[in-house]
Amino acid sequence: MKALVIYFSRADENYFGGSMKYIEKGNTEVVAEFIREITGAELFKVERKVPYSKDYMTCIKEAQDEQKRNELPELAKELTDINDYDTIFIGGPIYWGTLPQPMFTQLSKLDFKEKTIMPFSTHEGSGLASIVRDIRKFAPTANIKPGLAIVGSNVNSSKPSLKRWIDEQL
Ligand SMILES: Cc1cc2nc3c(=O)[nH]c(=O)nc-3n(C[C@H](O)[C@H](O)[C@H](O)COP(=O)(O)O)c2cc1C
Repeated sequence: MKALVIYFSRADENYFGGSMKYIEKGNTEVVAEFIREITGAELFKVERKVPYSKDYMTCIKEAQDEQKRNELPELAKELTDINDYDTIFIGGPIYWGTLPQPMFTQLSKLDFKEKTIMPFSTHEGSGLASIVRDIRKFAPTANIKPGLAIVGSNVNSSKPSLKRWIDEQL
């Protein structure tokens, strides 16, 4: 198996079960790195050309406005092909019920024909929300496996459940 993880993750100010704190590494990045440890996958981090604000409440509003306008924001750099990989993990935080819009900018540039997709999220209660359905729009013929949702504040202890999910699905 040759695997790639395409993910979005935001450090800076974030919300953890009732309080705000500044973090150095986003929750989804912790998960992406565990997937690399388990599978040897390579990582591609999707980054917005103009990052969301560090301030949580401002970021919430920016992401909501962008989603309402169905905007595909420009990225710092784009991945142009995934020919070398057969399995693609696609993940990110849940932003207003789905993946952050920059993920859709990236997915819209790729051809997922004959790929296996492993969807995952980190979240504060929404689970996978509508990410599987939304990924399907960009990968109509891919083999999309059941996804895994991890609560943001539990990411540091998520490696065993990630391993179980990967062993079961691949
Ligand atoms: C703009 C924004 C919108 C969010 N919307 C949701 C949501 O709809 N449902 C949910 O469960 N969590 C929501 N969250 C919480 C994040 O999904 C959660 O904190 C996630 O683990 C952050 O991942 P990251 O640190 O990799 O960016 C939202 C967070 C932000 C910043």
